[in-house]
Amino acid sequence: ELHRDPHRPAYHFVPPANWMNDPNGLIQWRGEYHMFYQHNPHAPVHEGRGGTIYWGHAVSQDLVHWRHLPIALAPGPTPADSAGVWSGCAVDNGGVLTLVYTGVDPEVQCLATSTDGVHFTKYSGNPVIGARPEGFDLWGFRDPYVWKEDDGWYMALGSGIKGVGGAVLLYRSTNLYDWSFLHPLCVGKLEETGYNWECPNFFALDGRHVLIVSPHSNPIYFVGKYERHRFEPERWGVVDYGPAFYAPQVFIDDRGRPIMFGWLKEQRSEAEQIRAGWSGVMSLPRILSLRHDGTLGCEPAPEVQLLRAEHWRFEDLTVAQSAPLELSGVRGDALEILAEFVPNRAGAGEGAHRAGLSVLRAPDGSEQTIIEYDQQAGCLRVGGEEAPLQLAAGEALQLRVFVDRSVVEVFANGRVCIATRVYPQRPDCLGVALVAQGGQAYASSVDVWRMNSIWP
Ligand code: FRU
Repeated sequence: ELHRDPHRPAYHFVPPANWMNDPNGLIQWRGEYHMFYQHNPHAPVHEGRGGTIYWGHAVSQDLVHWRHLPIALAPGPTPADSAGVWSGCAVDNGGVLTLVYTGVDPEVQCLATSTDGVHFTKYSGNPVIGARPEGFDLWGFRDPYVWKEDDGWYMALGSGIKGVGGAVLLYRSTNLYDWSFLHPLCVGKLEETGYNWECPNFFALDGRHVLIVSPHSNPIYFVGKYERHRFEPERWGVVDYGPAFYAPQVFIDDRGRPIMFGWLKEQRSEAEQIRAGWSGVMSLPRILSLRHDGTLGCEPAPEVQLLRAEHWRFEDLTVAQSAPLELSGVRGDALEILAEFVPNRAGAGEGAHRAGLSVLRAPDGSEQTIIEYDQQAGCLRVGGEEAPLQLAAGEALQLRVFVDRSVVEVFANGRVCIATRVYPQRPDCLGVALVAQGGQAYASSVDVWRMNSIWP
C-alpha cells in the first residue's frame, strides 16, 4: 500500500520501505554512482520497534534513476558496531571499495571493504579509531569523511568541544587502518554555530576549501584557505534554509563536480510516519559552486532534466494583486517549475512587494504551498520558512521549484535553497498559480514539466 500513498515521492529517491536518514558513502565507483544511506529496515523510525541502523545501498548510472541493492552493512556481531552502523563515507583504496563509518555504542570508527561493490566485509580489527583524543572534553565523535592527499589519507570527524562549540577533528593515516590525531580542523563558536557538528564534508572548490557540517539545525558551510593541514575559514553561510534538509554529503565525480545529496526529513508526527510505513526522502542531486561574492552556490544537477515529460510554457503573464493566476491546464503533484519574474516593468505602475508561486494548490485555494519573494523583507519564503535573498535593482527573480508529492525543493537565483515537506490532505491539490501582493507582478516566462517517476 506504500505505492498508493499520495505523499510518497515519485522522482526523489526513497528506500523500499521503512526508515531512512543521512546519505552515506557517496562515490562514483567503476562507472556507477553508489549511494548508501542510514536505514532501519524493520520500522519507519530511527531506532526501536525491533530495529536499529543499517546501511542501505543503491546504484545509479545518472544520479536520478536508482536500483536498490542488498543492505550493505548490518550492526554487529562484533561489539564495535553492535548497536548500529552510523554515518560515514566511501573511498577507493587501490580498487577496493572501502566504507569508513561510525560504530556504536560508544562511537568508534570502523572499516568495511568490497571488491564487487555489493558485498562488504567488516575489518576484523575494528574499530580503527577507538579512543578519543586526549585533552578535549568532547560531545560527539562520529561521521568520518575521508580524502586522499599526496602524503596520505585524511579524515574529518564530527564533534564538539564542551563549552566551546562544534568542532571537526583531523586525523591522518598512510593505509586507512592506522590513524593518528593531528588537531582540530575547525572549531566554531557555541553561540553562532552550535555545540556539536555532525556529518562533516571537506573538499577543494575553485581555489578555496569548503567545510560543510550539520549542527543539529540547518547545515552550514565555511569557505576558507587550507594550508599545511590547517583550515582558516573566511566566511560561513547556510546550505539550505528549509526545515527538512539535513546531514548532506558531498562527493566529487569524474568530471570534478561537487555533488551533494541531503536527507529530507519528515515534517509529520511519528505516529503518522508509522502509519505510512516509511520515513525519509533523499534530496535531488545538487551541484555546488563558489560564487563571485564568495558564497556557496547551489543548483540542481543537470541530470534532473532527464525526468522532464509533458511541458507547458507561458509567457508575459501579469498577476494582479491578491488574485492568484492559475496556470490553465497545469495539474500535477510531480512537477518542475521554472519561473522568471521581472521586477519593475517600466511604465507599468507600482510593482508587487511579494511575488511567487502557489503549488499543490486546491482549486479553491483552501490548501496550497506558497513560494514567494518578499522584496521589502529581502527574503524568500516557502510555507513558513524564510531565507535571506536580496535581489539587485533590476535583477529578475528566478525560481526553480521541484514539487514531488510531499516534497518541495526550491532554488532561487542559484543562491538560496529551501527544502520542505508538506502533506496536502485533499486529493485535488494539483494546481499551480502565480501570486502577487502589494501590487502587480510580471512573469516573463513560466515553464512547467510533469516529471517522470524514477522507478520502472
Ligand atoms: C545525523 C546523524 C549522524 C549519525 C547518524 C545516525 O543525522 O545523527 O550524526 O551518524 O545520523 O543515524
